[in-house]
Amino acid sequence: MSRLGWLNLLLALLLLGLVAAHGAIPSDPTRRNLQYFPNMVNSLAHEAQAAPPVLDPDRNIDLRPPEGAVARGHLPLGYEATPEEATRAGLELSLPDMEDDADSDERGAFVYTTFCATCHGPGGEGDGPVTRKGVPPPPSLLLEHSRDLPDGQMFHIITFGQGNMAAYGPQVGRADRWEAVRHIRRLQEAGSTP
Ligand code: HEC
Repeated sequence: MSRLGWLNLLLALLLLGLVAAHGAIPSDPTRRNLQYFPNMVNSLAHEAQAAPPVLDPDRNIDLRPPEGAVARGHLPLGYEATPEEATRAGLELSLPDMEDDADSDERGAFVYTTFCATCHGPGGEGDGPVTRKGVPPPPSLLLEHSRDLPDGQMFHIITFGQGNMAAYGPQVGRADRWEAVRHIRRLQEAGSTP
């Protein structure tokens, strides 16, 4: 046979081998196929949710944080959502030592305009746009009652809500809630008692 003949024969055998190998591999896509190098299937890494090999084997790998652990940015407030607790907050909490500059004034105004003015109105008089659409208007924040609320109690009301007002703790960050208190104080200073 010529050299070309041998080469053709070799290629034909190779093709035959490939076809045979292809036929041998099951083609059901829902089943795991033949594994030539199974190392990556049987990974050495620990399987999620499996029992931890080094810790208590009866416990799940998904360990709970230790008692008293605090998630970043979620410092507990230590108050319940009741009027008594609001009074207690008024006695115990005071405006934190925060920057009192144009930036923070702007932030307070932003928070108030975004979350509060819809009901309380731009000047705090309880005449926000939703009150013209059937929502019962809140009392004016310029009244004696609001002026006399201690900062901490106001902070508690914003955090947990009061009566018809929903809690704003979940939407508005802690520092921003204090900024809102400060903004209300500025409105009270600027506005006359109705
Ligand atoms: C959906 C309407 C609504 C929004 C929005 C709203 N409030 Fe109120 N707010 C009320 C109502 C109604 C009351 C009266 C609650 C009650 O005692 O029945 C109230 C009460 C208050 C009081 C207590 C006033 C007092 O003299 O007792 C404060 C302080 C206050 N809101 C601050 C805020 C701040 C700050 C925001 C924004 C973060 C805000 N509110 C957002 C409706 C709203």
